[in-house]
Amino acid sequence: MKETKTEQEALFEEGEERTSLVIQDREEKEKYSKDEVRNKVILGDALKVLKKLDNEIFDMVFIDPPYFLQLGNKELKRWTVKTVVEGVNDDWDKFPSFQEYDQFIQNLLIEVKRVMKPSATLWVIATYHSIFRIGKIMQDLGYWILNDIIWVKTNPMPNWLGVRFTNATETLIWAIKDKNAKGYTFNKEYARRFGIGKVGANVWVLPLCWGEERLKNKEGKKLHSTQKPIELLKRVILTSTKPGDIVLDPVAGTGTTGYVARALGRDFVMIEINPEYVQGIEERFKQELKLSDVPTPGDKYINRYFKLEGFK
Ligand SMILES: C[S@@+](CC[C@H](N)C(=O)[O-])C[C@H]1O[C@@H](n2cnc3c(N)ncnc32)[C@H](O)[C@@H]1O
Repeated sequence: MKETKTEQEALFEEGEERTSLVIQDREEKEKYSKDEVRNKVILGDALKVLKKLDNEIFDMVFIDPPYFLQLGNKELKRWTVKTVVEGVNDDWDKFPSFQEYDQFIQNLLIEVKRVMKPSATLWVIATYHSIFRIGKIMQDLGYWILNDIIWVKTNPMPNWLGVRFTNATETLIWAIKDKNAKGYTFNKEYARRFGIGKVGANVWVLPLCWGEERLKNKEGKKLHSTQKPIELLKRVILTSTKPGDIVLDPVAGTGTTGYVARALGRDFVMIEINPEYVQGIEERFKQELKLSDVPTPGDKYINRYFKLEGFK
C-alpha cells in the first residue's frame, strides 16, 4: 500500500461524500474490465487509464481536448468597458510547445483507436487553434474522415479589440478507424434534422452553453471554462450511436458526454484528470437530465441569426 497520497488524491478525498459513479485510478491497478468501468467516471490521466482498457470495446468516442490557445498570462481587457475578458486560461490548456501538444494528441489518438470497435466512430472538437493539427495527426494515424461539422455559435465571445473577425465557430471532425472500416452507425434522419437547409448540411447552429445549464463552483463562478452544450452532445450521440451502445469521453471536463448518453439510454465511460471537475460531475449526475427541457433551436431562430427572415 502506498502511504503518501498524491496532491490529486488528497484533494479528492477532502471532497463531499463519494458516489458509486467515480473510480479513482491508482498506479497499482493494472487492468479494468469493460463492465468495471461501464457507466463510471475515472479520475485519472487518460493516457494511463486508456492503457488499462481492453481492445475494441467502444462504439463511439467523443474528444474535446485541450485547445492550446496559447494566451499567455496577460489580462485581456475589453477596450470599450475595460472589464476583463474571461477566456480559457486554465493550466490544463497549457503546453510548452506545439511539439508537446501534438505529442499529447497523438498519444491520446493512438490509444483511442485501439479501444474503438472496428465499426466505431470518433468525434473530435476544437477551434482553429488546433483543429488543423489534430486533423493531420488523425490522417497520419490512418483514421478516415467522414465529415467535418461546423458548429456556428449564436452567442460567441465578440472580438473585443476589433482587429479580426469574431470567431463564432468550432469544428467537429467525424471519422472511422480506417478507410475500410464498415458498419458504423449513421442515423441520417437525425443528421437531416440537425443540419441546416433542405439537405441537412454539415452546419449546426446553436448557442454556447449558458444560463441554468452552466455548472457553477462554490464561489458561484463557472466551474469549467469550456463546458459544452447538452444540445451539441445530443446531436453527436443521436446521429452516431444506437441505444445500448457504449460511448467513451477520455477528457470529460464537466461530463456532458456521459450525462447526455445516460439520458439517451446509452452507456458511457469518462476519464477526467481534475478532481474538482469530477466532483462537479458527481453533483451533476444526481439530477436526472430531461432532454425535453433543453430547447432545440428551430428554423425561426436560425433564420433570425443569419438575418434570413425575408427569404422565402
Ligand atoms: C476542453 S475540456 C472538456 C470539456 C467537456 N467537453 C465539457 O463539456 O465539460 C478538456 C478537459 O481535459 C482534461 N484533461 C486534460 N488533460 C487530461 C488528461 N491527461 N487526462 C484526462 N483529462 C485531461 C482537462 O482537465 C479538461 O477538463
